[in-house]
Amino acid sequence: MFSSSIGCFVFCSLISGSHLYPLSARVRTNTFKEFKSVSVKVQLSDVGAEAGASTASSVVSCAIECISRESTCYSFLYDSTTKTCTLGSFLVLSENLGDSMRGTFYYVPGTFCDNTQVNFTVRSSVTFSSCLWISNDSLSYQNATEKCRALGASMYTIRVKEKLDILTDAAQEYPAGLYPWIGLDDIQQENVFRWSDDNSILNVSWTIWQQDQPNNDGNQDCVYYSSSHQLINDWDCNDSFNYVCEMIPSFT
Ligand SMILES: *[C@@H]1O[C@H](CO)[C@@H](O)[C@H](O)[C@H]1NC(C)=O
Ligand SMILES: *[C@@H]1O[C@H](CO)[C@@H](O)[C@H](O)[C@H]1NC(C)=O
Ligand SMILES: *[C@@H]1O[C@H](CO)[C@@H](O)[C@H](O)[C@H]1NC(C)=O
Ligand SMILES: *[C@@H]1O[C@H](CO)[C@@H](O)[C@H](O)[C@H]1NC(C)=O
Ligand SMILES: *[C@@H]1O[C@H](CO)[C@@H](O)[C@H](O)[C@H]1NC(C)=O
Repeated sequence: MFSSSIGCFVFCSLISGSHLYPLSARVRTNTFKEFKSVSVKVQLSDVGAEAGASTASSVVSCAIECISRESTCYSFLYDSTTKTCTLGSFLVLSENLGDSMRGTFYYVPGTFCDNTQVNFTVRSSVTFSSCLWISNDSLSYQNATEKCRALGASMYTIRVKEKLDILTDAAQEYPAGLYPWIGLDDIQQENVFRWSDDNSILNVSWTIWQQDQPNNDGNQDCVYYSSSHQLINDWDCNDSFNYVCEMIPSFT
């Protein structure tokens, strides 16, 4: 096992972010950065056989687990309440997770949300974070969907209200307003709106549509976010809008 000096080693790197040198060839050293000081919902999947959830007495122990057990571990989730340590090589920010995946996310800088051709950035509401990119060009819904896919991403979804808040927040950087496509449409079946990432049906209990929307006026099957209403609206899929892609970061 590891001595407390290694514990301090990792702990100090967590705190200071100072440059560190390997103690030995077998022990990887990494500085882990806290993703956000509030809890972030994350799902760690596609982890190696040795990884997965375990119990760790502290965030330091969890960091040690990450760098010592799993060569592809660049992130971990630590829940200090349940002392659950989940190692990950692949992160999916998810809206549909239960309490079991709550905790604080730590990652090696340079491996999360910034390893892509365009500038995906982490945007956060008070309690939720997402890795996204708001395009500067305008495309049809179909073309925007393909563009997001080509970037290894998918169109932005708003299954939780926090994701709406994130766009509203981002809109402040757009004085002329922000009206981007999101990944929601009723192309398959009229008036059954589905999220384009997994085809699941829109099911929210809070206000997401603008007043009197969706109205399918003249056949509107696609959906954009309106910063002037801070809500969504259906529109002609063939019109051109900016669009929001959401990243599923990978650590390959
Ligand atoms: C990404 O951001 C960097 C630094 O802000 C900038 O130089 C670069 O042009 C941006 N790339 C794209 C594709 O927007
Ligand atoms: C985005 O588009 C606006 C207006 O078309 C332009 O002024 C701005 O330079 C563009 N920004 C980037 C990063 O391409
Ligand atoms: C969509 O993509 C096709 C094929 O690249 C192109 O011909 C068309 O002009 C695009 N339309 C819009 C609105 O982006
Ligand atoms: C919608 O979500 C609620 C819980 O938020 C759930 O009880 C209900 O079964 C869901 N409906 C559908 C059609 O998925
Ligand atoms: C939109 O474009 C598609 C082809 O991409 C076409 O099949 C459809 O009829 C168009 N819809 C409208 C409302 O123009």
